[in-house]
Amino acid sequence: MKLRRFFTLFASLSTCLMAQDGGQLYTLYCSACHGADGKGATGGAFPPLASSEWIKGDAKRPINIVLHGMEGPIDVAGKTYNLAMPPQGALLPDDQIAAILTFVRSSWGNTESAVNVDEVKAVRAATADRKKPWTAPELTKEFPLALEKTALSDLISMVYKDASAPLGDLSTLTATSVEEEHSGIIDVAQAAIEDKFAIMWTGKFNAPAKGSYTFLLDADDSARLTINGKVISEVKGLGPINSNRKQISKIDLEQGPAPIKIEYIENIGNQGIELAWKGPESEKWNWLSKEKSSLGPVFPEILIEPKTNNTAIYRNFIAGTTPRAIGFGFPGGVNLAYSADNLATELIWKGKFMNGGRHWTDRGQGSEPPAGTDVIKISSIPVLPKGARFLGYKLDEAGNPTFYTTIGDAKLSDSWKPSSDSLVRQISLNGGSTAMDILVSNLATEISSSGDILFEDKAYIQIQGTNAFKKENKIMINMAPGKSATLTYRWK
Ligand code: HEC
Repeated sequence: MKLRRFFTLFASLSTCLMAQDGGQLYTLYCSACHGADGKGATGGAFPPLASSEWIKGDAKRPINIVLHGMEGPIDVAGKTYNLAMPPQGALLPDDQIAAILTFVRSSWGNTESAVNVDEVKAVRAATADRKKPWTAPELTKEFPLALEKTALSDLISMVYKDASAPLGDLSTLTATSVEEEHSGIIDVAQAAIEDKFAIMWTGKFNAPAKGSYTFLLDADDSARLTINGKVISEVKGLGPINSNRKQISKIDLEQGPAPIKIEYIENIGNQGIELAWKGPESEKWNWLSKEKSSLGPVFPEILIEPKTNNTAIYRNFIAGTTPRAIGFGFPGGVNLAYSADNLATELIWKGKFMNGGRHWTDRGQGSEPPAGTDVIKISSIPVLPKGARFLGYKLDEAGNPTFYTTIGDAKLSDSWKPSSDSLVRQISLNGGSTAMDILVSNLATEISSSGDILFEDKAYIQIQGTNAFKKENKIMINMAPGKSATLTYRWK
């Protein structure tokens, strides 16, 4: 009896002596990525734990994350990340995990309950077979996130397949699916269709006070916002989000629910909708859409740069050219973007190549403009005769690309390389039996007396091996089978 009491006393004493300092352990094991202040290391390139919905509520969710790690896209506090967190389960014993999570859940404004060792032990035992990191969808299926309420309630999405622009009256069409959206958030992904569809969301907008409300609406492609039966704003036509079609409009509302309707249509290519509001009692924008790029977030600058003797390549949406474009940044500070849609180098620019911040830290929404200066748009339409097909590109040892296309039985190779402050392009046509006209630019101003193609007083193209000529305001060259030509693109 006495002995037992001694041991109990000893045991509690020892746990007390060995009690872990969650803050210190956090610094040691988590802060390199999540930041000493919990806001995400390297200026928010990593996800935050302060204001994270993932550490809230059921502690099994964060315990699982620490034990097994995470990978793939995850939304944290309104921003999307797509990185990987290595599992920490082998490294950290249960009591240390409990201490760290207790610290995280009660720091930087978080006010969640403590996590005890037994909970960690139980989760470790229950998931002992798990060999892979969690993905966000897997984890939320087992441990749903507590939803922050938006001002939208009774939200219903109705999806219309095979709808085509312009955005007409959707209520005359038959919906192919109808869903309740308990998140109170509108998201084009709710349709799960790539092209040619429409969505109508209906519900209530719950105005917290009487007064003037401002709404922001942007869409790829068109959208219409109706409140209290009145159309208050429309994004018309086709085009990307973040263009000059974004609408800001105002309406006076009484306190309480007002019927709201949001109609949307997607033609082809990128898709998205953005909706936010400000009211008499809120200075900042409150988002009602999953996407929110119109006013930020501010992306960190992660410059992508060529290395000595090695070209940098960027394969993501580049603003100013078509969706299927590839960027090449050459050593020496000259760059180009080749459109695989129009089979042409459509942009050239100087200086910095691309900022990867948007596409590396966000889901890749929107297009990123060139990071450098002196951007020249060379052309904006297909440059080869009808029926031409892109075969791909090859890189030489220095990383300089050659683009290949076929036109009937002819094959065109189009090589680019840097030369001090200019870009040298070599085109050759092989096979086939007839000469063909190839567009060099539909945007250049004129051909000079010496035969150069001029882009105002900003840049020019010198041609060797053939001559430029004008055809209906387009500047072309003629290429015969077996011939090649050299075009040098220079800035003034
Ligand atoms: C090597 C970097 C790294 C370390 C170390 C690390 N994490 Fe993470 N953590 C990440 C990344 C990256 C993600 C997002 C993974 C993704 O994109 O799917 C993440 C996600 C999370 C999440 C879910 C998202 C969020 O921000 O709330 C939690 C919770 C979390 N980590 C907690 C921790 C804790 C606690 C530790 C220390 C025991 C830790 N992490 C250590 C990189 C790290």
